[in-house]
Amino acid sequence: MSSAEQRREELKATWELARGCVKCPQLAATRQTVVFGAGNADADLMFVGEAPGANEDRRGLPFVGQAGGLLDQLLSEIGLRRDDVFIANVLKCRPPGNRDPLPQEIDNCQDYLFKQLELICPKLVCTLGNFATKLLRGDPATGITRLHGRAEVRTIGPREVRLYPLFHPAAALYTPSMVATLREDFSRIPDLLQEALPDDRPAPVPDVALAFEPVIEPSVAVAVVEQGRETSVVGQAAEPADQPSGEGPISESPRQAAADSPQLNLF
Ligand code: URA
Repeated sequence: MSSAEQRREELKATWELARGCVKCPQLAATRQTVVFGAGNADADLMFVGEAPGANEDRRGLPFVGQAGGLLDQLLSEIGLRRDDVFIANVLKCRPPGNRDPLPQEIDNCQDYLFKQLELICPKLVCTLGNFATKLLRGDPATGITRLHGRAEVRTIGPREVRLYPLFHPAAALYTPSMVATLREDFSRIPDLLQEALPDDRPAPVPDVALAFEPVIEPSVAVAVVEQGRETSVVGQAAEPADQPSGEGPISESPRQAAADSPQLNLF
């Protein structure tokens, strides 16, 4: 099995765990579906929103309401479609009445998101709004108004990723000036996708004269997300699922051979 296939299979296994999750008793009791996330399992670009709303809860897919309509529109303006990206949320279950996620719920759910990030390996992660931005930057004090439109390289789990905080489309829906800002920030995404991460740069070739000297890698200025707690370590197993297995909302990469496994968008 290729590593892309393996990662996709692991992603499906993670979805199986998430769909049986009962770590947040209130959310487990009131949800209709666990909205794991959807899209290209091998995407370079990932979006992370806050939590499913009523439409998402009903359909089992992220961003399918009005905010999703705006997200689709902004994606199309930069030449992308949903199938090109992966879309997930901080919480996989809908908070009743669309209330804000509680700190304990974010804590309970974050391993699924960190596992998604590890397996999908996106180059660029657009955090939509405060909750995703604060969680993935590991800084609860600095909000989206200050940070939107400013990309930064962070180490999340085992690898570097470029984070790009954006206003949440739902917040922008009724504020034309915020839509304009979101559109302007979106317009930089294609260029950001072309930018190499420090990890991607070729290793320096040692000077011949120094061939027997130790080669010192250039130091790279990256911030490290302080997850702070053992339970937030990427890859830690979540609670076992108690539901039967099935296919998930994970589609195959255009980079993978399409022949051997069709799109899996089965919700
Ligand atoms: N808002 C979000 O943050 N996520 C969704 O999936 C829908 C609306």
